[in-house]
Amino acid sequence: MAQLATPPAKWTQRYPDLGTGLVSYEDSISPEFYELEREAIFRRAWLNVGRVEQLPRKGSYFTKELAVAKTSLLVTRDLAGEIHAFHNVCRHRGNKLVWDHTPRTESSGVCRQFMCKYHGWRYGVDGALKFVLQEEEFFDFDKADFPLVSVHCEVWEGFVFVNLAERPSQSLRDFLGPMVLGLEGYPFHLCGERYAFKSEISSNWKIFLDAFQEYYHASVLHAQQQVPSLRSFESGYKIPHFQIDGPHRLVSTGGWKGVPRHLTPPDQMYPIEHATRSGLMGPWDRPDIPELDPANLPPGLNPGNLQPWSISNFQIFPNFVILVYERGWYLTYQYWPTSVGTHDWEMSYYFPPARTASERIRHEVTAVVSKEAALQDAATLDGTQMGLESRAIDKFPLSDQELTVRHHHKVVGDWVEAYLRDGKDARA
Ligand code: FES
Ligand SMILES: [Fe+2]
Repeated sequence: MAQLATPPAKWTQRYPDLGTGLVSYEDSISPEFYELEREAIFRRAWLNVGRVEQLPRKGSYFTKELAVAKTSLLVTRDLAGEIHAFHNVCRHRGNKLVWDHTPRTESSGVCRQFMCKYHGWRYGVDGALKFVLQEEEFFDFDKADFPLVSVHCEVWEGFVFVNLAERPSQSLRDFLGPMVLGLEGYPFHLCGERYAFKSEISSNWKIFLDAFQEYYHASVLHAQQQVPSLRSFESGYKIPHFQIDGPHRLVSTGGWKGVPRHLTPPDQMYPIEHATRSGLMGPWDRPDIPELDPANLPPGLNPGNLQPWSISNFQIFPNFVILVYERGWYLTYQYWPTSVGTHDWEMSYYFPPARTASERIRHEVTAVVSKEAALQDAATLDGTQMGLESRAIDKFPLSDQELTVRHHHKVVGDWVEAYLRDGKDARA
């Protein structure tokens, strides 16, 4: 996306391709558009399905249900330590290979071989077919011809990505591009204590994603959790740094108008926050880990060089978000469409492993308080989806503070357009 060399006063105008006109949300309510998105975006873009910590040992695996692509994936670490992704489908007669309680529930574990529950074919964790019951009954049969069907899989900074295209047109690194690659060197590997939640949401996936990429709503919807200078229906909050690179976006915040959360007066927060010294922005005391000291973090984490810096919110196309907090922790969100008007939302909070009971409690308080703020966002979505589906209004104004929303819908539209124009060879 073109960026002007001499930036005008408004962020949106730095990216003239975006325009400043009214925006349609037909892309969030049209069943036909949703069908196009499945092919144009979710079968072509690199998708984050988890982290390497979910595959801690040789033989570790997890399954990932991707309703949007009508498939289930099996992600494994083989006996040599390599990470793979496969379609979770038996080569014999198509049964789902790995599941525990019901075929639609995700599962994880450690094993040496996967055995199909139907006729007992067995596969190694590297996908090789190892055993066929009554093999001599088959015709011209060689087990080497029937491994699990693999899916392109690459790991970046411990994040496991897959690409469902037959031949992705870009490597993962090329797809991520310089702005997201600026995160390289952040000590993600030191933040292995994970709190994960999942929720079924009654809105198009983009509607919720929009709610976490603009802060225009913060002083109203989250008024209860704001410092006094922000707790206003009148004054709002201005983002000090936006950045766009290809299909991805970055929003960075500074210290909340110079009042960091840990300096907020006690009567402006939940008692549990004050009692534990932890809350929405994380534990107030940064862990004593040199790699997490802001002075040692990669400059690409805060490319606007905000001082004080508070959060960098990387919106990685199409449905993956990494928020890194100055207090030494990070979180991720994923939005997995299940229909035009529903999606599964996943959030994970990552901290350096607690060394004391009080550190552990602080992590839990941050996870719970942060989850509550997220549920305040979620509570609006049903109403927004209903309002859009009424089609009473077909075009909406977006402010400069909602530049990211404008960009996201444009990129989604561009990918669908490229797919319609170039068919199977559309970009990936
Ligand atoms: S379908 Fe898996 S062994 Fe028959
Ligand atoms: Fe919010």
